[in-house]
Amino acid sequence: MNIIDGKAVSQSVKERVRDEIAEKGLKIGLAVIIVGNNQASRVYVNNKKKACEFCGITSYEYALPEETTEEQLLELVETCNADKNINGILVQLPLPSQINEKTVIEHIDPNKDVDAFHAVNVGKIMIGEYSFLPCTPAGIMELIHSTGTEVSGKECVVIGRSNIVGKPMGMLLLHENGTVTICHSKTKNLAEVCRRADILVAAVGKAGFVTSDMVKDGAVVIDVGMNRNADGKLCGDVDFENVAPKCSYITPVPGGVGPMTIAMLMENTLRAKMLQTL
Ligand code: GUN
Repeated sequence: MNIIDGKAVSQSVKERVRDEIAEKGLKIGLAVIIVGNNQASRVYVNNKKKACEFCGITSYEYALPEETTEEQLLELVETCNADKNINGILVQLPLPSQINEKTVIEHIDPNKDVDAFHAVNVGKIMIGEYSFLPCTPAGIMELIHSTGTEVSGKECVVIGRSNIVGKPMGMLLLHENGTVTICHSKTKNLAEVCRRADILVAAVGKAGFVTSDMVKDGAVVIDVGMNRNADGKLCGDVDFENVAPKCSYITPVPGGVGPMTIAMLMENTLRAKMLQTL
């Protein structure tokens, strides 16, 4: 059994981005918009700003109060769309309940949509002609590649069908010729389906959801979960202690998928700049 070191892989992605920016002498800006006082969002945004600094990307933080109206946020997005110094726009989710996330995402210029959440970019992912790779699934593909595992022809099972992770994850695996199954809360015989997987991706949001009886010997297991257990400790969707001995490779939480999402955001911000320079 091998533990995949997400920190190390993410570091090499960030170094690649940093070196390309330095080599080409690029001036790149990323707008990071956060609304309200969500503690987890604050931590993510701080980590994204740190990664920008490492890569040589200028981050512009816009921290708006909890009571911000949808109109005010849309106005800020429009300002960022028009600003030539801003190449990428990231609106940290979730947003307060008075703001419709979908409306906000659809207002972002698709060429600055470094999360790849806009319908135009989601559509491009479907046809395999993407401008931006969706950050978390793209980071997972990097992790799988780092193990030397060939996706082509493999049974790939994704648990979870969110727009941010599950659905685009299925598409990226499919583009590499995996045989893909996407499971969700209505899936019958979930354990049986998961046991078929050579590559199992868990994006459920429930601590300890994936147990050892759901995992085939020698599987590659990727844990996208970010949960708190009863002691308040960060943990994934996989019962790591009991599942790990069965795997060929497994990601830990923390230190697995999490750091990759941010590294891929840096890569997308560089892509955004290149797209806008064409
Ligand atoms: N909230 C949770 N994950 C993400 C992400 O990847 N991007 C943004 N903008 N918000 C998030």
